Amino acid sequence: MKGIVLAGGRATRLHPLTKITSKQLLPIYDKPMIYYPIETLIAAGIKDILVIIAPDYAGQFLNLLGSGRELGVDFSYEIQEEPRGLADAFIVGENFIGNDNVTMILGDNIFEDDFSKEIKSFKEGAMVFAKKVPDPQRFGVVEFDKEMRAVSIEEKPKNPKSDYAVVGLYVYDNRVVKHAKSLKPSARGEIEITSLNNVYLKNGGLKVGQVNGAWEDAGTFESLLRVSNFMAEKQG
Ligand code: TTP
Repeated sequence: MKGIVLAGGRATRLHPLTKITSKQLLPIYDKPMIYYPIETLIAAGIKDILVIIAPDYAGQFLNLLGSGRELGVDFSYEIQEEPRGLADAFIVGENFIGNDNVTMILGDNIFEDDFSKEIKSFKEGAMVFAKKVPDPQRFGVVEFDKEMRAVSIEEKPKNPKSDYAVVGLYVYDNRVVKHAKSLKPSARGEIEITSLNNVYLKNGGLKVGQVNGAWEDAGTFESLLRVSNFMAEKQG
């Protein structure tokens, strides 16, 4: 199992903070944000990690993370020239992925849970994770049947069919590269991870796990502050 941290994007919602650096390098309490998703991968036993970054502050990521030796992992880097969507990670990362399975985590997603059991036992298909949220229309939303099997996934629906948001941690088998290449851009011009998950859902190969602990998408001022306070309390 290889790992990808997707840490590009424009981070327009955090201007002016992100006019001088990347969102994923901003502090969450005592560490740059990207340490948290990296630690989630490391906790799951993943040591071969590709960091995908935007061109603008690429040097800062290299200064911070280097080879990965200090953390006992191997970092590779790729530049995503334009934010073409989350599923683009598997096209940018094609050479890195090679013939392996891959876990992708978003560089601004902070998890309390340990996913090592699910990731270590993964064999094929796709596995995503869902959490009940008060504002599902901001996310990919998964609808379940009575047996808690996924029946639909919709990207930012106006009328969500459930309160379960798909969070920014995704596990795929090697077919993900081929599937990502087959996607057409959405109305907002991105190749959507929800479209990718729908390919696996239609093939019957999508599993959805639950997130029990805290989860934040640290992409807004409010969530950035909330997750910093959470980490300070947890460690203090
Ligand atoms: P978003 O928060 O959806 O996008 P953004 O970071 O550009 O922020 P904003 O909406 O404020 O402009 O992205 C989620 C994560 O995925 C974040 O860590 C950035 C990353 N990302 C990429 O690396 N490449 C992409 O093409 C996209 C769309 C996002």
